[in-house]
Formats: sequence, structure tokens, C-alpha cells
Amino acid sequence: MKVVAFNGSARKDGNCAFLIRRVFQELERENIETELIQLAGAKLHGCRACYGCFQKKNSRCQFDDDQLNDYLAKILESHSLILASPTYFSDVSPEMKALIDRVGFVARANNNLLARKAGAAIVTVRRAGAIHALDTLNHFFLCQSMFLVGSSYWNIGFGREKGEVEKDEEGLKTMAVLGQNLAWLLKKIAAFQK
Ligand SMILES: Cc1cc2nc3c(=O)[nH]c(=O)nc-3n(C[C@H](O)[C@H](O)[C@H](O)COP(=O)(O)O)c2cc1C
Repeated sequence: MKVVAFNGSARKDGNCAFLIRRVFQELERENIETELIQLAGAKLHGCRACYGCFQKKNSRCQFDDDQLNDYLAKILESHSLILASPTYFSDVSPEMKALIDRVGFVARANNNLLARKAGAAIVTVRRAGAIHALDTLNHFFLCQSMFLVGSSYWNIGFGREKGEVEKDEEGLKTMAVLGQNLAWLLKKIAAFQK
């Protein structure tokens, strides 16, 4: 079983990465393979609305000028997708928006490629706007026929400077429970499919 996580922050190894790694600890304890992909510096462009994916239906974005198709392949080989974003003006980062728009369109053009994978959203924030960013990610999962994973509180961690989220005790607890819930769900699905 494998879980891939995307850190949508423009800042590598910041608060989003810290929270993802906290979730990974729980998954790895259950022998679930994990992979973290950080979008910082990736220069992903947004969807160009060419509808080429709906015409070709080859499970790819027809633009091969950035890493989108590599990212999509990582998602398709995984049982679960974690999307983590910092709050930027009460929404997700542009890197994350580019990822979800393009992956989402290709997935829908090809008979819902993400259907029945588990999805978990994580958001970091200094002060306000996190719920709206979280809703953006959850709405993505919900229209891809995915199963949403929650926790003991909303999947949010507080902090501004890199690593500051480490002081958010409740946020860390939320991530631990999120990891446990995700591991539980993946194991149940795997057992059901046997
Ligand atoms: C362009 C930009 C916009 C931001 N907008 C908000 C915001 O709307 N609300 C907020 O509380 N924090 C905002 N922040 C702060 C980040 O959400 C916060 O520092 C977060 O922990 C960054 O996560 P990271 O370390 O993973 O990049 C903003 C930061 C940047 C760079």
C-alpha cells in the first residue's frame, strides 16, 4: 500500500512538510509506504483549458513541458493522496491549484481515474482563511469519487515561520489521528478487496 503526499507550499520543508511528515509517522508504523513530493520550485503551469485530455483520453495532460504527468503517474500508482497547502489569501497556493485543476481534469476525462482512492487534505495557516483553503481541497476530492479522511478536528496546523507549526500541539495531535484514520481505512479497503 502506498500514500503519496504533495506539499503545495512555495516554501520547501516548511509547516506543510512538517505536518505531512507527522501523518507519515503513523502510516509508516503500519508499514504503509509513503512518498513526499514538494511543489516548491516546480514551475507547474495551470490548466490551459484545451480539452485535449477529453479528446485523447490517454490518461495524460497533453502538455509535457512540466512535471504534471510524472505527478499524475505517482498519484495513479498510490492508494491514497494527501494534498497539503499553506493558506494564501484564504485559499490554496497557486502550485496546488495548478496541480488539482490539471490532475482533476485528466482524471475526469478518463472515467474518474481517482475514484475510490482515499483523500486527505492538510492546511497550514498563520491566522485565518484555512477553512476556505481546506474546503477547496475537500471539494476536489468530493467530485473525484474519492473517500475523504478526517480527524479529531479539522486538518489544520497554525504557524507562520518555517517549523513554527511544531508548537501547535492540537494541530500535531490532529495529524496523528489523521494518519491513524487513514491507515485504518486503507487496511479495511485492502482486506475487503482480497
Ligand atoms: C502569499 C502568502 C499569503 C498568505 N496568506 C495568508 C492568509 O490568508 N491567512 C493566514 O493566516 N496566513 C497567510 N499566509 C501565511 C501562511 O499560510 C503560513 O505562513 C503557513 O504556515 C505557511 O506554510 P508553509 O511553511 O508550508 O509554507 C500567507 C503567506 C503567504 C506567503
